[in-house]
This record gives sequence, structure tokens and C-alpha cells, in this order.
Amino acid sequence: MKILLLGAPGAGKGTQAKKIKEKFNIPIISMGDMLREIIKTDEEMKKKVEPYMESGKLVPDQVVGEILKKRLEKKDCEKGFVLDGFPRNLSQAKLLEKTGVVVDKVIEICVSDDEIINRLEGRIICGECGEIFHMKNKKPKVDGECDVCGGKLKTRKDDEKSTIVERLKVFHIETEPLQDYYLKKGIFFKIDGEKPQEEVMENLLREIEEN
Ligand code: AP5
Repeated sequence: MKILLLGAPGAGKGTQAKKIKEKFNIPIISMGDMLREIIKTDEEMKKKVEPYMESGKLVPDQVVGEILKKRLEKKDCEKGFVLDGFPRNLSQAKLLEKTGVVVDKVIEICVSDDEIINRLEGRIICGECGEIFHMKNKKPKVDGECDVCGGKLKTRKDDEKSTIVERLKVFHIETEPLQDYYLKKGIFFKIDGEKPQEEVMENLLREIEEN
């Protein structure tokens, strides 16, 4: 099972990918998470990548392409995966094809720009395990503390209003053309991402399991 999740920043890709992982026992390949992990320890990469991430722009295709290629070679990808945040433009879609990976379904979680801004301005994440919360929609049981591991909750640097607006612009210009690209291949599906998280999950599962 090779599922690709598309959607604007904050559409809920990360939230839903975690649930798909639990349900089907397949790994999540999140390009954003991999980049954030790499820059914690690799100063060279940090210099190369962080300015793009902090300004809401796409990291160059060659850099993310290499990271993806290495990740796909790992054994845990053999039985499938959920790909979150790759590809984000047509040239990345072609890079993915060159790796020989055949995606079964591309599902876009659709959310309006206004709702995206609400979500990202209120998002808090665990600095330890990456669990995702929201100040209003998904509050942690204890203020500032992760329900899963007790880690400290923080906001993401790129969840600042001007960066969110830039990320949305990049999404509309560079990523949205992928809808047509995958539609022509007959593997593109859309679901309403503005429903409660549980309902979004049910609809996603229905889409994944339908032949
Ligand atoms: P990345 O980390 O992938 O960020 P993103 O795509 O902008 O997506 P997010 O992680 O912000 O949102 P999400 O859709 O996962 O939403 P979430 O589940 O957290 O990428 C960051 C940066 O890395 C990019 O800007 C770029 O610079 C670089 N990068 C990454 N991939 C790249 C690539 N391929 N090429 C080049 N550069 C790349 O949910 C958001 C909030 O909403 C949470 O608070 C959550 O609790 C809440 N929420 C979720 N679902 C619901 C719901 N149904 N109802 C109400 N609230 C909800």
C-alpha cells in the first residue's frame, strides 16, 4: 500500500498520516519531519535548508530528492508507506517516478485558506515525539505538556502569519498542478478536510480501502 497525501500546509496530513500508520502498520515518510530532524545534527544541511523552511519556500528539488531516495531504500518501505509532503511540484513527481515507486492512490485533504490560517496559528507540537495539538481544536490534557510522552509543547517557527501566507502561495502555485497530473493517471481522490478529525479519518480509510 503506497499512499500519497496531498494538501495545503495545515490541512491535516501529519495528523491523518499518524492514524494511517497505526491502522496499517506502515511507515510515514514525511519530508518536513525528515528535514527538521536532519538540521538538528547536520550544520551543513542546516545552512542549506533552513532559510527555505523559515521563509515558507520549497527546499531545492535536488536536496529533497536525495533525502527521499535514501529513505525509500530502507527495508521498512517494502510493504508500503504513507508519503506526506512529497512531491510538492511536477519535477518532484517525476523524480518520484524515476525511483521506480508506483503510488496506488493520491488523496488530497481539502481545506480552505481561512481555515488553514486558523489551524496553523493555533498549532502546538511536542518537541520530543512530534505529536500534534491545537490550542482550541485539540488541547493537551495538561497545558504545555504532551499527552503521549510528557514532552514540552512548542510552536513551529514557520507557523507565523506571514510565513503561513507564503506557504499557502507556494502550495497554490507549485503543488496544486499535481491534482491534474495524478487525475490523468486515474489515481487522484479528494476528501473534505474541514470535518472533525475522526470523520476525516473515516473518509480517508474508505477511500484507501475502496478498489
Ligand atoms: P511540512 O512540515 O511538510 O509542512 P506543511 O506541508 O506545510 O504541512 P504541515 O506539517 O504544516 O501541516 P499538516 O497538513 O501536516 O497539518 P497538521 O496535521 O499538522 O513542510 C515544512 C517545510 O519543509 C516546507 O514549507 C518546505 O520549506 C519544506 N519541505 C517539506 N517538504 C518539501 C518538499 N517536498 N520539497 C521542498 N521543500 C519541502 O494539522 C495542522 C493543525 O490543524 C494541527 O494543530 C491539528 O491539530 C489541526 N487539525 C488537523 N486536522 C484537523 C481537523 N480535521 N479539524 C480541526 N483541526 C485540525
